[in-house]
Amino acid sequence: MDDKERLLSPRPASDDPQVEKSLRPRSLAEFIGQEKVVEQLRIAISAARARAEPLDHTLFYGPPGLGKTSLANVIAHEMGVKIKVTSGPAIERAGDLAAILTNLQKNDILFIDEVHRLNRAVEEVLYPAMEDFALDLIVGKGPSARNLRLKLPRFTVIGATTRLALLTSPLRDRFVAPHRMEFYSDEAMREILTRSARILAVPISAEAAHELGRRARGTPRIANRLLRRVRDYAQVVAEGVIDLAVARAALAQLEVDELGLDENDRRLLRALIELFNGGPVGLSTLAAALAEEVDAIEDVYEPFLLQLGFLQRTPRGRIATRRAYAHLGVPYIERQPSPDDAGPTQGRLW
Ligand SMILES: Nc1ncnc2c1ncn2[C@@H]1O[C@H](COP(=O)(O)OP(=O)(O)O)[C@@H](O)[C@H]1O
Ligand SMILES: [Mg+2]
Repeated sequence: MDDKERLLSPRPASDDPQVEKSLRPRSLAEFIGQEKVVEQLRIAISAARARAEPLDHTLFYGPPGLGKTSLANVIAHEMGVKIKVTSGPAIERAGDLAAILTNLQKNDILFIDEVHRLNRAVEEVLYPAMEDFALDLIVGKGPSARNLRLKLPRFTVIGATTRLALLTSPLRDRFVAPHRMEFYSDEAMREILTRSARILAVPISAEAAHELGRRARGTPRIANRLLRRVRDYAQVVAEGVIDLAVARAALAQLEVDELGLDENDRRLLRALIELFNGGPVGLSTLAAALAEEVDAIEDVYEPFLLQLGFLQRTPRGRIATRRAYAHLGVPYIERQPSPDDAGPTQGRLW
């Protein structure tokens, strides 16, 4: 199955854009959760506005579906400036970026999604643009060629990435303000669901909103997707009203378990435990066993399994923890610890 079509994938699916747009928070006041990031942005925005200057170059990093794109748009709204949206893979040649840059106006925002996927030649153009607001051009050919430096208006680059580690260090250094996006708390998730239900005019009880929020992996995109699926279910079996019983029944039918894991997560954990004795196993071996892409495992599955403490990354590969065994109901057999297992790089991917 294409990962994009999976219910619990935090990546955008093909049927999402319209609905996602209507559910996207527009202002900082509407943006729920991520208090630390929001507070820092609030200060940066009001300082920049007071000086009538563009915001510092800003980077958002963290798992998909946590609100990076939303925040870029919120910033444009709060700054009262235009936003030009593009992405790393969309800018193929240096000339493509030059064309974008020369069309920017003072204080505008250039949002580059998947900024870790910019190619080298394009990055070279971006460095002086970010640092000196300058575009270096070579005019003419051969011995008569000369450098021309074009002045650009002062503007802001906002970058977003799910893979901070893949960003080149010169590019990383040029983002003055990097922000790590965290999984949302149960309380924030409940608020997000309540807000989305209101916008979509879906009647939902407070308990049901809490239950859906709790099982959406701390990820607003998944919460919104679950809400739409549960709404369909409620429409057919419960006259459209989502109460706790309806929410639970719908989640059971969708095979979303108590912790918000779906069949694909459980398949990964089962493979780790049954095929590889709980690990350690290398990422590419695991990916091959699951017929999955390495990227999907690192981006989509692992962040939340690490957060739950079901998975550990060690120098020798992935390990299933005692908790993962317990969740699947498989008896845990103590492994002989080998010296290489010392000091697992547990927990955070970011
Ligand atoms: N803080 C939030 N409050 C309410 N809804 C949110 C919030 N963050 C994200 N969303 C919802 O989740 C969806 C995915 O967010 P998005 O900004 O596209 O994530 P990312 O760019 O990190 O993948 C948005 O369309 C929006 O509806
Ligand atoms: Mg995005």
